[in-house]
Amino acid sequence: MKRIAILGSTGSIGCSSLKVIEAHPEAYQVIALAAGKNMALLAEQVRKFKPLEVAVLGDHEAESLRERLDGGQRTRIVSGREGLVHLATLEEVDTVISAITGAAGLVPTYAAIKAGKNVALANKETMVMAGALVIEEAKRQGITLLPVDSEHSAILQCLQGHPRDDVRRVILTASGGPFIDFSDEEMEKVTPEQALKHPNWNMGPKITVDSATLMNKGLELIEARWLFGLDIHQIHILIHPQSVVHSMVEYRDGSIIAQLGIPDMITPISYALSYPRHVDTALPALDLEQIGTLSFMKPDTGKFRCLELALRAAEIGESMPAVLNGANEAAVELFLQGRIGFLQIPSLIEKTMRAHTPVLINSIEKVMEADAWARQRAAEFAERDISIA
Ligand SMILES: NC(=O)c1ccc[n+]([C@@H]2O[C@H](COP(=O)([O-])OP(=O)(O)OC[C@H]3O[C@@H](n4cnc5c(N)ncnc54)[C@H](OP(=O)(O)O)[C@@H]3O)[C@@H](O)[C@H]2O)c1
Repeated sequence: MKRIAILGSTGSIGCSSLKVIEAHPEAYQVIALAAGKNMALLAEQVRKFKPLEVAVLGDHEAESLRERLDGGQRTRIVSGREGLVHLATLEEVDTVISAITGAAGLVPTYAAIKAGKNVALANKETMVMAGALVIEEAKRQGITLLPVDSEHSAILQCLQGHPRDDVRRVILTASGGPFIDFSDEEMEKVTPEQALKHPNWNMGPKITVDSATLMNKGLELIEARWLFGLDIHQIHILIHPQSVVHSMVEYRDGSIIAQLGIPDMITPISYALSYPRHVDTALPALDLEQIGTLSFMKPDTGKFRCLELALRAAEIGESMPAVLNGANEAAVELFLQGRIGFLQIPSLIEKTMRAHTPVLINSIEKVMEADAWARQRAAEFAERDISIA
């Protein structure tokens, strides 16, 4: 029986994780749930799964949850960053699903690893910001760190039973998002509503915009590097609009092993929890006859500059990936608020990266400093652009 805490239970990954857990009551038990602001959904989850503890964003949310539960549950409620860390390190928990979005996921995820919990990792930002520290700590604690991202889950599956030395390269696939065929003029006018409509996946707003800019693939490239101990130049990216081949591993003799499946996060979440077994899910089988054609093409990094910026940040290393991530989060938020245009996302990130002198990252505090610096600089650059316009 795995005793599970979900960080981000009200999000897209959190809700899918609860479906996986609910389908296998003999194998999984919910011990703790953490969410941000969606107290209506969290209250429903508490009634259904009866966790020992829940963590919420702040005191206001804690009060709102208490009112909704009306004293009818014995669940303890904690709040704030300390609350998240407390939840991620609970003695009763052995497995943490890290599914908070963005940099907010780093501190509790790292705390869970330090406390010796096995981690199913959806929060790729943790690996982008602090991959080296996370891998080092995971090795020190001897814990299992399993990817939830479908591409990384695919790579993990393609690596099973093969010596690592035999790997020539890894091929990460990308749907390409909704704007793959857009002209430069059309890209200029993209609205948040358009960017939030992903053709294949149903995800939270931040990752959906990242998929539209292709920053998501850049973040995944950095995540793959740390998770699988690869040189960044061993990681190649291919646009694959059908999202059926989730990623591939090419071996030294030219053989390529791919993992295929329908685009639904239930599969990689399930594999991260049942690894190395593949257990039943309620998903329909992949119907390749109906799909008919699988196509692949090179990404246009001139048009999707975020991908190029992520590669540059990975090559520079030190604090630059954390700066890339912080500037991206700030820019995506401004875009979603309608304050900057779609193409200003890469330009704000680039300006912030150019203004940064990389420093050695040897602690989570240093990572958070780089993140805060990047957010502030990106906001300043945006203010300047807005006032000029
Ligand atoms: N969705 C996917 O298919 C997918 C695939 C691969 C990887 N991922 C990764 O998984 C992570 C989650 O993505 P998602 O699509 O599930 O995002 P989402 O739907 O936006 O959900 C985010 C979750 O995090 C919570 N949250 C946000 N900020 C918080 C904070 N400061 N403190 C506590 N909780 C906070 C939210 O709570 P409230 O909603 O209650 O405020 C929500 O439960 C991201 O890192 C993403 O890159 C997602």
